[in-house]
Amino acid sequence: MIELTVNGNPIAVPEGTPLLEAVRAAGVELPTLCYHEGLAPYGACRLCMVLVASPHRELVASCVYPVEEGLAVETDAPEAVTARRLALEFLLSRCPQSAVIRELAAGEGVTASRFGAPPPEKADELCMLCGLCVRVCREAIGANAISFIGRGGERRVGAPFDVQSDACIGCGACAEVCPTGAIWIEDRGHQRILHNWNTTVELHPCPACGRFFAPEPTAFLKEVLPETAELWGMCPECLRQRAARQWIEQDVVKPT
Ligand code: SF4
Ligand code: FES
Repeated sequence: MIELTVNGNPIAVPEGTPLLEAVRAAGVELPTLCYHEGLAPYGACRLCMVLVASPHRELVASCVYPVEEGLAVETDAPEAVTARRLALEFLLSRCPQSAVIRELAAGEGVTASRFGAPPPEKADELCMLCGLCVRVCREAIGANAISFIGRGGERRVGAPFDVQSDACIGCGACAEVCPTGAIWIEDRGHQRILHNWNTTVELHPCPACGRFFAPEPTAFLKEVLPETAELWGMCPECLRQRAARQWIEQDVVKPT
């Protein structure tokens, strides 16, 4: 175990733990937008800044900083608070319409940005480039269907060449992890439309109720996850009803 202090309170955590997790284990909450415990840290939003006061003095993004023996961490040092507020001002100036960012900013006492507003054509921008969608698609799903495109103010996330992606399986994990709700996915009849990625995938109908409910499993998924074939066989509601009927038939549950 690695021993350190957070705001003067001693704590011990396993080696390799991100400093952010140690801070949380010490009962201190920090704002985060680009961190997900199931994905590799990326350090994009800079909202988790803390001061390492000893043995060296350094402002660090705690999500990408592994714990070290004897660190003394201060989360409310003036430098750390200023860094977090600055990051929130940047985010507010990029995505002023994001309720999530506005709420986080207000929590740190930031209600306006000195960096101005986005240009009119980007006034509704919700993507703050945290990269969670790119990482979940690559690391958890293995599809690698989207990536960052462009540089500077033109940087954004998209599918290659902004055309229909053959790699996208339409799972929706990108929208699930997006902290600002920037990804628009719509089920329309037998199709799922991933508007941000200019991609449409066919949906699979439930053989019991006929409802289109999940993307057609790809050959890849059928091969690597054969045990999940049943997931595509029936929609969750029909699966639940079938299980309930089986329990009743097996006398596990008596109808009242
Ligand atoms: S679309 Fe959402 S998850 Fe993807 S980079 Fe933008 S804010 Fe992050
Ligand atoms: S949560 Fe650490 S940089 Fe975003």
